[in-house]
Amino acid sequence: MDVMNDVLNEEAKINLINWLSKSSGGELKSLAEETSKLMTYYRCAMLEIETKFRVLNEQFSLKQERNPIESIKTRLKSPQSIKGKLERNNIPMSLSAIEENLNDVAGVRVVCSFIDDIYMLADCLMSQDDVKVLNVKDYIKNPKPNGYRSFHIIVEIPIFLCDEKKYIKVEVQLRTINMESWAKLEHRMRYKKNISEEIFSKTQDALQECAEMSFALDEKMQFIRKIIEGE
Ligand code: GTP
Ligand code: MG
Repeated sequence: MDVMNDVLNEEAKINLINWLSKSSGGELKSLAEETSKLMTYYRCAMLEIETKFRVLNEQFSLKQERNPIESIKTRLKSPQSIKGKLERNNIPMSLSAIEENLNDVAGVRVVCSFIDDIYMLADCLMSQDDVKVLNVKDYIKNPKPNGYRSFHIIVEIPIFLCDEKKYIKVEVQLRTINMESWAKLEHRMRYKKNISEEIFSKTQDALQECAEMSFALDEKMQFIRKIIEGE
């Protein structure tokens, strides 16, 4: 992350803290500390989940001589987005409301080589005994009307601090390289943009068609791999 981004994030964090203090009437210094602490917990939880996937990737590459994971990306929701989402959803403005109501402050995106790797990795994660599964959305079996595909899991994992254990939520998104390319382009063009009804419906079918073509590619590639591996 570059210096400019650090400065911007620091500014946004201060804005969020000021805004929280106005609504809660809390003392600014302790609120600043609590906000930093909470964001640190989210960062730790994100790292923990990332490590779990890296371990699974290592283990699988030993067993199968190939890596199921292409890349892992992590992101913390920016203070502006946290504030925006709370306002949009009429959620009270407090740190405990953030913890209770927002599932995607910490996000981990795992880009996989093949469709069946997604299910294999998701099952492995969900069966680990320190992972609590709160919600699963299979947008691969049930794509969104625009064609969006991905496997989403909201989990809660314990963060061990020297004097306490705290459960923190993380949003995990698993998708193939092709699903990732489609989602990135669609996001850039359309997702949550204020585009007119007319343009929206004009582009919906074409986007969905692209998603189907892209999914057909995923299925074919998986078919080829299975032949090569003699499955
Ligand atoms: P958000 O309020 O956006 O977080 O969504 P949600 O709480 O309704 O949950 P959902 O599981 O539907 O979406 C979570 C995340 O998946 C989003 O924040 C996006 O990153 C991604 N996502 C969901 N739908 C789409 C879509 O149609 N296009 C793209 N590009 N990404 C999507
Ligand atoms: Mg989100």
